[in-house]
Formats: sequence, structure tokens, C-alpha cells
Amino acid sequence: MCGIVGYVGKKQASSILIEGLRKLEYRGYDSAGVAIIDNGVLSVTKCKGRLANLEAQLLEEPLKGNVGIGHTRWATHGKPSDENSHPHTNEKGTISVVHNGIIENYIHLREWLMAKGYKFISETDSEVIPHLIDFYYDGDIVDAVMKTVTKMEGSYAIAVVTSNEPDKLVAVRKDSPLIVGLGKDEFYIASDIPAVLNHTREVYLLEDKEFVVISNDGIKLLDAEGKTINKEIFHVTWDAEAAEKGGYEHFMLKEIHEQPKAIRDTMTSRIVLGEPITLDDINITKDQIKNLNKIYIVACGTAYNAGVVGKYVIEKLARIPVELDIASEFKYRDPIMDKNTLMIVISQSGETADTMSALRLAKSKGSRVIAVTNVVGSAASREADDVLYTWAGPEIAVASTKAYVTQLIAMYIIALFFAQNKETLSHEEIEEIKIAMMELPEKAEEVLKNKETVQKFTAKTYMHKDMFFIGRGLDYAVALEGSLKLKEISYIHSDAYPAGELKHGPIALMEDGTIVIALATQEAIFDKMVSNIKELATRGAKVFAFAPEGHTEIEKSVFSVTYIPKVMDILAPVISVIPLQLLAYYMAIQKGCDVDKPRNLAKSVTVE
Ligand code: F6R
Repeated sequence: MCGIVGYVGKKQASSILIEGLRKLEYRGYDSAGVAIIDNGVLSVTKCKGRLANLEAQLLEEPLKGNVGIGHTRWATHGKPSDENSHPHTNEKGTISVVHNGIIENYIHLREWLMAKGYKFISETDSEVIPHLIDFYYDGDIVDAVMKTVTKMEGSYAIAVVTSNEPDKLVAVRKDSPLIVGLGKDEFYIASDIPAVLNHTREVYLLEDKEFVVISNDGIKLLDAEGKTINKEIFHVTWDAEAAEKGGYEHFMLKEIHEQPKAIRDTMTSRIVLGEPITLDDINITKDQIKNLNKIYIVACGTAYNAGVVGKYVIEKLARIPVELDIASEFKYRDPIMDKNTLMIVISQSGETADTMSALRLAKSKGSRVIAVTNVVGSAASREADDVLYTWAGPEIAVASTKAYVTQLIAMYIIALFFAQNKETLSHEEIEEIKIAMMELPEKAEEVLKNKETVQKFTAKTYMHKDMFFIGRGLDYAVALEGSLKLKEISYIHSDAYPAGELKHGPIALMEDGTIVIALATQEAIFDKMVSNIKELATRGAKVFAFAPEGHTEIEKSVFSVTYIPKVMDILAPVISVIPLQLLAYYMAIQKGCDVDKPRNLAKSVTVE
């Protein structure tokens, strides 16, 4: 998704903008550009492709100046091209704008502007913005931007500079993230905190329709009526290191290795032995929990896969019926909800447009919403009634890993919290699960030390075009995530099936050499799983299994096996997903893929 950076200060804007955009690369992009003001002259450099292309152009023709805006674009309206790249400018070249989001009524605005003689050079929705600002500009850029946004429908975070007021930057957001970084005599704006972390830890998290006006005189925050507002400064506690690769070859590998810490952090102060579970930002009462008729878990992609585990554990531990929905499907099926229905949305970014639509639909039907998200101040955290933050830290690699395991931890915490309130489990049973959860970080460390079998397997199989993932119960949930990870970063096609379902169709695809990755971590159904594996092996499939330590009998039926530490059955997904993440990673490495930035994917999908 697009990234925005802006700077007003005493330093050269160019290098600060490029550095900030680099920190936002994980959002996915296809082109980049900057607009910088120097001595009252506005200059724009922008081009299709990676940031390196833009840097090369800036090296050839440097742009001087202390005020500027920068952008990385992920195409929505109009193909990736130099013309469609941001910043966009008015015809006189005096106003420049970067935009993240989608202007839904842009066709109407475009026609309206064209009728007034405005000429367009790009295919983007965003280009209407500088022309609208130009139309309204009467010597006051803040006033012109305010009038412009009243005409815009859709989602936006925009930043604007003009050579007519050369020390000023104006920015505003609606349904698209935007933060303001506060330095000493210098200010930043950005789509996300990592872009400013090298410069400041003090930020404002802008809400919808809040404007920031930055100039050499300082900073002003305004509401949609132009009235000054006061905001609390948010102090970022992540260390700058946490947003860097820190010695690993890729962010994804680093993030896989951060999982023991992420699991521990997410449990901190929530899972305490001998004490009831209390959750800071969750205010749902005991009575409300007792009266719940149904829970919907709604999410996309990896977060949805965490929801598969959530459904299983909430039903098992708290005995509340759970329906699971893919967010992009949810609102089109007229779901049955009322004030006794709870929605749990799961979203790493807390900005996913499909998930946010589902959340808003639930609220419109009077249902309560709990957001499980990794981003403080994200749209989901602001709009939900209750929030459970996953403390995974910033996730930079596009493919989600540490966010997923912390989402699983969040599901266990919520399930236990409900079980405690509904008294569906005894105190002793809850304590037993908590003890087992507290062992997870150590067990995760153990799995991470044992990569060789996975590496050897990938070296032998990476040239295959198709693979299957199978499992039963919670193993099936993990199979879904393993399969998604493999597709995303290695571009190998794979499908995940409940193992018992194979004989109802997919077994027809089994032949000599078919690669099957089988999860057999659930003690209660281990023997059933081994029978399914044998059915495949006799048809020539090469089965790579994951089984709990001690179950050596599986070796007779499989091509290769990786043993994973024994944990309580319901907690196994937290551990068994780790070798699958590594499997996807090493497959992608063998194939020479861009692991951290897989093709066609974006980290934060803020359009439906
Ligand atoms: C997969 C991945 C995506 C996201 C999905 C939802 O590795 O990253 O499938 O899980 O786009 O994103 P969030 O969790 O930010 O709502």
C-alpha cells in the first residue's frame, strides 16, 4: 500500500524523505517520488520502479530544500508508470500532493474540473486533488485543502506543499493512517511510525478528518472546522533496532526468530499464574459474556487462519458458538447479528479495508466488537469497543509470521477470559492451560534451533510446482497457514486439506512423487492421521511429516519427519507453524525469490 513521508525543518528534505520511504517499503509499492521546495520553487522527481531508481535520478539532479513530501505508490487507478506516480501537481506546478487511499467520486470530480478547463496527465484518482486545491486556492493553502476534502469521497491520507507558502506542509487523513513525528525544530509526517523512528519517538496519531499544519513557526492541529485541537503525544517504545533487519538476511527470518519474544510479550501481564485474567482494554462485562448468543471471527489472509484456531479454542474452552468469516465475504451475506452477538476482528495492521467494513457492519447492527491488532492507534483499535493488542512489534516482511503466532496467543487469552467469566472451566483447568502457555516461548526457541531437516527437504523439493498440506483439527488450521506462506513467498502452488477429506476428492491427484506436508501434532487423533498418511504413501506421495517427539513409529510411513516438542494439543499450532514458516522461507531462498517483498502483495491492504 502507498507510503507517505513529509518533512519541514532545517535539514535537506531529500535524504530524509528517501530514508523514510525506505522504512515504508514493506507496505509494497511500484513507483516513488518526492516534491521539494527550494527558494520558493517547487520541484518534483518521480518514477516507476524501486526507490533505487528515484535515488539514481536524485543523484543526477539533486533537489535542494528543507520542505518536502515523498510517496511510494501501489497502483490502484492506473498502471504503475512515471505519470501515475506521486506527487501530483497542479498545471502551474505550484501545488504538489501525495495521496494514500482511493477517491471514490474521482470520475465525477475529474469531469467537473475538466469542464472548468483543468487538464489531466495521469490515469489516477489522486490527480483530482491538486487541481481541486488549485481551484479553491485563494492565498491560504489550509483553507483550500479544507474545502477540497469536503468534496472528496473515499479514503485518504494526503500531504500538500505549495511554492506560494514555501515553508508550509498541510496533511489530513480519513480511513488511511497518518502520523506526525515531533523533532526538535523539525517535524515529520508519515503513514507509519517506522518512517520517523530514526528521528523521533514522540508522535501524534491523527484521527479521521484531523489536519496538521506544519511551518517554520511550529505545528498546529485542526479539526474539520478549522478549530485548534490538542492531542496527547504518543511515546513510541519500540527501539530503532526493532525496525531493522538486525543481522538476519531478511526481515522475515528475523521476525520468525523474534517469535519466542513476541509470544512472551503478548502474554505479559495477561497470563499470570494464580491470578484471574484481566484485560486492560476489554470492558465487556461478565453478564454480557454470559448472554452472548454467537461470536463471529472475521479477518483476512493469515489473520483469518489465526481465526480458524480461535473458533476451535473458544468453542472448546468457553462453549460459545463461533462462526468464522473471510472479511471480504462477510458483508455480502446479510449476517444475523444483534446486541448479544460479538464480533472479533483480527488484523495485524488494524487498517485492512475488508476487515474494517465488517467491523463497521457489526457496529451498525448493534453488536459489540473486539479488535485483535498489532498496531496501536490503528483504525480497528479506535473503532472497536474493546481491543486486545498483540505485542509482536512492527512486522516489516510482507508475509506475516510473528503477528500470526501472537494472534494465536490472543485467541487463547480471549478463550480463557470467556471460560473464566462463564465458568465453563474450573480454576485448576485454567491454571493448567496457563502453565502450558508459559512454556511456549522456550519450546519455540527449541524448534528454531532445529532447522536442518526442513532445509534439507527444501533443497530436494523446491523445483516442484505443487504441494499439499494436510492435517486434522487444529493441524488443519496450521496447514492452511503453511500453505498460504508457501504460496506467498515461493510462488509454489499449494492447497491445504483436512486429512479426512482427501478421500472425498483430492486423493485423485496423488501420484508418484507428489509432495505432501502432513501435520500430526494432535495426540488425540495421531493414529487417524497416520492412517491418512499411509493412504497417500501407498499412492506414491512423498510425505514430509511433523510429529511430536517420541512418535518414531511415523518414520515407517513417511519420506522425512521433523519432531517438534510436545505441548498441550490445543497449543500445538503456536509451535508447529514455525517449521512451516521456515519451510516456506527456505523454499523461497532456494528459488531466489524476493522473500520480504513478494510480487503483487502489499503489507497493508487498505482498499476493498
Ligand atoms: C499473509 C499476510 C496477509 C494478511 C492479510 C490481513 O502473510 O500478511 O494475508 O494477513 O492481508 O492483514 P491484516 O492482518 O493487517 O488485517
